[in-house]
Order: sequence, then structure tokens, then C-alpha cells
Amino acid sequence: MTMPLMTTTLLPPTKPITVAADYAALCDLVAARIAALVREKPGAVLGLATGSTPLGVYDRLVSAAQDDGLDFSGVTCFNLDEYFPMASESPHSYHHFMQKNLFRRIRCRRWFVPDGAPRSEAEVAQSCWEYEAAIREVGGIDLQLLGIGRSGHIGFNEPGSPPDSRTRLVTLHAMTLADAAGSFGGLENVPSQAVSMGIGTILEAREILLMASGTGKAQIVRAAWTEEPTLALPASWVRTHSNARLYLDTAAAQDLDAAAQAFS
Ligand code: F6R
Repeated sequence: MTMPLMTTTLLPPTKPITVAADYAALCDLVAARIAALVREKPGAVLGLATGSTPLGVYDRLVSAAQDDGLDFSGVTCFNLDEYFPMASESPHSYHHFMQKNLFRRIRCRRWFVPDGAPRSEAEVAQSCWEYEAAIREVGGIDLQLLGIGRSGHIGFNEPGSPPDSRTRLVTLHAMTLADAAGSFGGLENVPSQAVSMGIGTILEAREILLMASGTGKAQIVRAAWTEEPTLALPASWVRTHSNARLYLDTAAAQDLDAAAQAFS
């Protein structure tokens, strides 16, 4: 009598991780991936983030556009989020940030940032619905670039955000407000709300690059990439995506054990 064969499916301990020596090398790698996509698909749809983490990536994309002829004229970009209430022309707006750091410099013709203009909740809900519709109309996001907040947020999806959430008005976590206080000249000036793409919107992108730099992100990155996905840690849902990669510098990777890092 032959015994039935027992088979065990070995799941990878974690999703792919790329660890770069330092922030400059990290930005080189992330920018190279985005540039490769734009070359391969001139009509690519990019999902983009603000914050300090992607700044070096944007500098490299600007150099690629200005010095190497990388053509963004057919690319469409959707940003993750905007403070609310926030006029787009304010120097604190993410609209202004993206215009200054990227869009004005690469001659991208079609770019969108959620609208943070002060208005009624019903009007905000309508514009969120339109944002989702605009993403669908262009065939969805090919590549979504993400940073991670110390609260574990992606976009402004704070702890408690459901994995199927869509673009909507959200309330910011105390840690997120504290982190923004410096750039707003005091905690009292930071808007307590934002309009953010949802986790569900983000997870529909065909490829996700989650980027983190510095020791301040090491603990939250470890939790997001090694623990079970949970409502308490929005970035943990990125691991459920079939084409997601974590991009870190050695400082942000310091709390990941060798087993997790080896899977790269
Ligand atoms: C910004 C965004 C946020 C940031 C995160 C990290 O559009 O969506 O999730 O990516 O707060 O910010 P930095 O890069 O400044 O540490």
C-alpha cells in the first residue's frame, strides 16, 4: 500500500524587499523602476505620494526628463492625498508641493491631487467619487508609490481604515499631526482632516512600491512587513498585494531580521 503524499506549501516569509545602502541609493533604485515603466509604457498611470521620502526620487525623475529625454507628456498622475481644508494655491498644500517638486519640472500634462478646497461634506464626497471615477476612466493605476507614516498610515489612511476603503474625508492621527507641526509653524495650524485615496483604491494599483528611509521608520516597517495584516496598521495591507515591493535604506531596515531581508 502506498501512503498518500503529504504536500506542504511553503509561503515566502514576507514579500520582496530591496535594501539600499543609503537614501541616495534608495532613490536611484525607485526612480529607475518608475523611469523603466514610463519608457516601456509612455501612457503609464502613476500614483504618487508627497512627504520627504520621495523627494530624492522626484529629483532623479526631473534629471531623467531634463537630461535624458524621459518623456512624461503621455503620463497621467494621481496623488494620494491633500489636507482639508486646504486651498490648492497655499504653500502648505500637497498640490503646491507636487507642482513645485515634480510636475512643473517634467512637463507632465495630466496630474491630479485630491481637492482640499473648503466646502460641504457632501461636496467633498462628490469630488472623492469623481476622483475614483477619473482613475477608473484611464484604466487604473499602473504603479503606486507609497511612503509610510509613523502611525502606519499609507496615504492618509490612519489606523482603523478598512482595507476596502475608497477616496474620502479622513481624520488625521495625533502622531501625523505632530509630525506635520514643524512645516505648519505649530500644531495648532495643522488641518485635522484630509482627503485621501482609500486602501482599497491603493490596492487596485497593478504594482506598489512602498518606500521608507531612516531609523524613525524602522519599527513601523518591521511591523507592517512581518505581522498579520490588521486594521490597526494600514500599511500591513500592502503585503496582501501580489505585486508589492518594499524599498528601504539600511536605517529603515534595521529592525527586519535577516530572514525577512534575505527574501529580496
Ligand atoms: C503623503 C502620504 C503619506 C506619507 C507619509 C510619510 O502623500 O501619503 O502617507 O507618505 O506620511 O511621510 P514622509 O515621507 O514625510 O516621512
